[in-house]
Amino acid sequence: MHWQGVIRHYGRFFTFVPDEAVITLLEGNTPLIPAPALARRIAPGTELYLKYEGLNPTGSFKDRGMTMAVSKAKADGSDSVICASTGNTSASAAAYAARAGMKAFVLIPEGKIALGKLSQAMIHGAQVLQVLGNFDDALSLVKEVSSKYPVTLVNSLNPYRIEGQKSAAFEIVDALGDAPDYHILPVGNAGNITAYWAGYKEYRAAGKSKRLPAMLGWQAEGAAPIVRGAPVAKPETVATAIRIGNPASWKQAEAARDESGGLIRMVSDAEILEAYKMVAETEGIFCEPASAASIAGVIKLGTERFFQAGQRLVCTLTGHGLKDPDNAIAQSVAPVTIPPVLGDVLRILGF
Ligand code: F0G
Repeated sequence: MHWQGVIRHYGRFFTFVPDEAVITLLEGNTPLIPAPALARRIAPGTELYLKYEGLNPTGSFKDRGMTMAVSKAKADGSDSVICASTGNTSASAAAYAARAGMKAFVLIPEGKIALGKLSQAMIHGAQVLQVLGNFDDALSLVKEVSSKYPVTLVNSLNPYRIEGQKSAAFEIVDALGDAPDYHILPVGNAGNITAYWAGYKEYRAAGKSKRLPAMLGWQAEGAAPIVRGAPVAKPETVATAIRIGNPASWKQAEAARDESGGLIRMVSDAEILEAYKMVAETEGIFCEPASAASIAGVIKLGTERFFQAGQRLVCTLTGHGLKDPDNAIAQSVAPVTIPPVLGDVLRILGF
């Protein structure tokens, strides 16, 4: 059957939304791609899968939550949404609001979001405010505005965002027939690790799986408040999507870690960029730097001999690499410029 989006497919696990209020771009149903070559390099003997969330309609996992948050806002009579964002949430909010005929207001840290994401918010007609501060400053502002004025907050503090994002865990269990041994993902504002863990638990309670994965979350070294146990006032990382110093779902992320017997650790920018190139070159999959924090985490644990042969690992690749062309170009070999002459082509190709 034609895919109908996460609400129509998994709606029985979500708060009820009347069908006529459903705002969907047919998000979800993303591929769970086996990555045997990458597994041989970084975690030999394991079965490694990549949940490629970059293939959602706006290029990130945020669409799973945004369909629920915007549909519910619409159903409840709201005419506008607001969010703080490192880029992907704003892109998704702008697109879903456009489709709903609602206004979107987005607050982003000035100069610190990837160009593709900024272009998305702009083309969908959102009112974009660049804050001379970081994501955490922007989040404080939108919390205040939405608590006092008639506009719906669509950051992951909105419980419907988390509900929709659970669908990724459902899809993984549906694809594998059970939960994996480990689920590995980047952690920024910590909504996604919260959502996956809720999804895995709910699906098992519904008899859809026999077991639960251990959740392995990864922060960037310069933006690792959960790992360090204290907010980071000036978070910095090349992975701008997770450049967050005081995550909204901090406690829920710790609960996911502890209940699942998992961990939340950190990787350096150099490790993130190495993983970013490796997954692109080894498996032909282009993700954004923040997404590669999950791969960097597997590399780190692989060198510590953390995994055992036969174990199943799922890494979420949270966003598409095309979101952030600047980083891709900066990390790659520059094109060679030549005159339109056959001899030059042959010389350079080595024929
Ligand atoms: N990966 C990407 C590509 C993201 O955009 C985000 C979060 C994360 C990972 C972390 O997920 O916040 O649920 O822990 N981006 C938010 C945004 C903050 O505004 O787009 P999280």
